[in-house]
Amino acid sequence: MSEKPSHAVIVGGSSGIGLATARNLLGQGMNVTITGRSQEKLERARQSLSGNVAIAAFDATEPANVRAFFETLGAFDHLVLAASGGKGLGPFETLDLADLNSGVDEKVRPQLSCLQAALPSLNKSGSVTFISAVSAQLSAPGVAGIAAVNGMLLTVVPILAMELKPLRVNVVAPGVIDTPWWDFLPSEQRQRIFADYAGKTPVGRIGRAEYVASAIAFLVSNGFMKGQVLTCDGGLRFAA
Ligand SMILES: NC(=O)c1ccc[n+]([C@@H]2O[C@H](COP(=O)([O-])OP(=O)(O)OC[C@H]3O[C@@H](n4cnc5c(N)ncnc54)[C@H](OP(=O)(O)O)[C@@H]3O)[C@@H](O)[C@H]2O)c1
Repeated sequence: MSEKPSHAVIVGGSSGIGLATARNLLGQGMNVTITGRSQEKLERARQSLSGNVAIAAFDATEPANVRAFFETLGAFDHLVLAASGGKGLGPFETLDLADLNSGVDEKVRPQLSCLQAALPSLNKSGSVTFISAVSAQLSAPGVAGIAAVNGMLLTVVPILAMELKPLRVNVVAPGVIDTPWWDFLPSEQRQRIFADYAGKTPVGRIGRAEYVASAIAFLVSNGFMKGQVLTCDGGLRFAA
């Protein structure tokens, strides 16, 4: 008798790194549920994927929506937390400290609230993968705010890896990756920043969502990876 495929849920799976992760895990034969706020984006994402994929629209900043989603989902095996916040970039001297609250509200709290709500139905032999950012590992000027936010996710991983054992809890820290996350910038400015980071990044280019997706897929599928920070940044942390 063939084994039942694993079921992975990707919160923030309708674009960028989450969508690339969905494609990777579907390619490994998993069943995948992707979530996001926009139903339209989710429909588009589903059409771009092949395999057993379901979609669910809810805002992960709303705890009631998060609870309702996981209560109706049923048992599943792997949770990937790709919902994003984008605030906190820029020089410290002029940093709007309210951006720290937004970063927590839009990224840290949703990722933690999804994990908390998922626990009753998440297979204890499975995994959870947070997505932080390499900013939390840099000493480069201009990232103090965003590093403070992403650093919280790095900090909780070893603790949760022990507290929630045997569940495997890991985190990926991406470098600069060309995804819709950067769409808040006008195209010209975005291209300038990408070129600047490509120059700073030791591999000589910025990253693609697929690179980070394969790092996540490794953490999801390797049953001995636990409490790890996997940095996927082309070496940026050594250079910036
Ligand atoms: N791109 C980079 O350079 C980079 C670098 C380091 C770390 N990261 C991190 O990587 C993760 C994925 O980002 P990405 O680059 O793939 O960005 P992205 O393409 O903008 O993807 C973000 C995903 O999260 C969903 N989302 C955002 N807010 C949500 C909310 N409140 N509730 C539910 N879903 C929500 C989005 O869909 P909807 O808009 O429809 O909700 C989308 O599916 C983020 O945590 C980001 O901070 C990115």
